Amino acid sequence: MFISSLGLLAFVAYTQAANLTVLSTAMTPNGFHNAARGWNSFGIQANSATTPSWGEFNQGNVTRQCDVLAQPHFKAAGYQYCSLDSGWSLDEGDNNGRLLYDPSLFDLPAFAEHLHRKGLLLGVYVLPGALCDDGNKTILGTNVQLKSTFNGNNDGFLRCDFDFSKPGVQEWHDSVIHLFASWGVDLVKVDFVTPGSPDNGANLVVDNSGAVVAYHKAIAKASRPMRLDISWKLERNNTYYDIWRANANTMRTDQDINNSGKSTFVEWATVQRAIENYRQYIVLQIPKDQPLSIYPDMDNLYAGNSAKITGVSDSMRETIMSHWLGAAANLITGSDLTNLDNLGVKLLTSQTGIAIADFAAKYLMQPRNPGSGGTDAKQLQAWIAGPDLKAGQAIVILANYGPDQGQGGFSTQLAGKQKVSISLEDLGLGSGPAFNVENVWSGKSSVIERGGSLSESLAEGESVLLKLSLR
Ligand SMILES: *[C@@H]1O[C@H](CO)[C@@H](O)[C@H](O)[C@H]1NC(C)=O
Ligand SMILES: *[C@@H]1O[C@H](CO)[C@@H](O)[C@H](O)[C@H]1NC(C)=O
Ligand SMILES: *[C@@H]1O[C@H](CO)[C@@H](O)[C@H](O)[C@H]1NC(C)=O
Ligand SMILES: *[C@@H]1O[C@H](CO)[C@@H](O)[C@H](O)[C@H]1NC(C)=O
Ligand SMILES: *[C@@H]1O[C@H](CO)[C@@H](O)[C@H](O)[C@H]1NC(C)=O
Repeated sequence: MFISSLGLLAFVAYTQAANLTVLSTAMTPNGFHNAARGWNSFGIQANSATTPSWGEFNQGNVTRQCDVLAQPHFKAAGYQYCSLDSGWSLDEGDNNGRLLYDPSLFDLPAFAEHLHRKGLLLGVYVLPGALCDDGNKTILGTNVQLKSTFNGNNDGFLRCDFDFSKPGVQEWHDSVIHLFASWGVDLVKVDFVTPGSPDNGANLVVDNSGAVVAYHKAIAKASRPMRLDISWKLERNNTYYDIWRANANTMRTDQDINNSGKSTFVEWATVQRAIENYRQYIVLQIPKDQPLSIYPDMDNLYAGNSAKITGVSDSMRETIMSHWLGAAANLITGSDLTNLDNLGVKLLTSQTGIAIADFAAKYLMQPRNPGSGGTDAKQLQAWIAGPDLKAGQAIVILANYGPDQGQGGFSTQLAGKQKVSISLEDLGLGSGPAFNVENVWSGKSSVIERGGSLSESLAEGESVLLKLSLR
């Protein structure tokens, strides 16, 4: 569409006057320009009753899920990663204390080859530290015994923590990543990173951020590109955020959002929490006015299965998808890919939806409160990603999160349908230009005149995802 240069100039001027700091992005440390898209096993592992076709966490059952990603509509949408969560590795490493896959469950080199042949990629899961039982083994390429690098077994898991100042620690990480690369691994998720990772009953060492640095350095030397995703609910202060953003591709902003032992994947109360954690995270980045070199991970995306299996209504599934898209978060679904419904396929793969993910990967969304343009937690909330001044485009979400179920951050209890309205001014788009507005999920188009407001009547948990283009 032709955009008059006068309109564009007015747009630039009005946006500047509106004092909106656009959240733009830069390349991530290992060379990526977006967050990973794919599937991860944890939601089903934690809630196997959701997935009748799931037997156990093994190669056959994972293959059945991940092969769906090779279908043309998923491929076109960029879903590539088949990410194994906890449980693929043995409790004892090889002669050099490097992690090994459990051969009764997986043959990872063969599995990676299968995935690569289909244009897919393999992700694995690790914890910081090495296996305590490998203490007497010698780190590959050194004469250092692993136990001389240990700092005790603090977490109650099988892992011993590293003293990151000891010689051999980097070499151990190098050797592990070298082995992973030789199998064909393309993504490493490091869980239980601290500070962060609220203990969940484990006694975590206060600071194992050295593992993130060491894995990053190892990946930089690896024979194949790999993404580094770190988890969970990581410390956000500058001291640590500067470490995460210099070393990883994505960082978790919340705890696990999955249910546990249920026949559904997720609860609305937890989704409210996940969105609130993204808000807290992103609001910290606004005043820095620096391109973001790390993407948020809001945890697995549960939108693909029917309301009965996902655990929330269809409009809430849409709300989940819209927020994960606008946040440029990992689009790593945890749904049962063998049992998607039509809405699930549409949400995950529609070209208009994926175009939002691509836009947000350059311009992440930030909250703008209706009525003030502020950034607080609100039950009736608006978000804006962009604007991209050159393209004359912005993405807007209007949402009614429903009554706060405890962790939404907004505390209000407005029941039933609510009118959610925000002026262009409060959105930070000034009072000048008019926009064409496209509702991404319904496909409906409308126009917002200069100085106007966007307005929707929204049920509890309902939202709209809007694409604004300068008229
Ligand atoms: C899934 O796991 C079950 C239990 O181990 C197994 O019997 C079944 O063969 C697996 N499915 C596939 C497709 O490998
Ligand atoms: C390491 O070797 C020592 C001496 O042989 C032994 O006492 C200890 O149990 C071994 N540790 C492990 C983790 O195997
Ligand atoms: C950052 O967080 C860590 C751990 O949570 C804390 O020890 C440290 O004092 C904080 N640093 C700053 C600058 O706030
Ligand atoms: C997600 O599942 C894990 C494993 O079952 C569990 O420990 C965790 O509490 C679950 N998360 C929530 C929010 O229930
Ligand atoms: C404009 O942005 C600056 C810098 O982020 C901030 O200090 C100031 O309070 C903002 N002004 C308004 C009116 O929002």
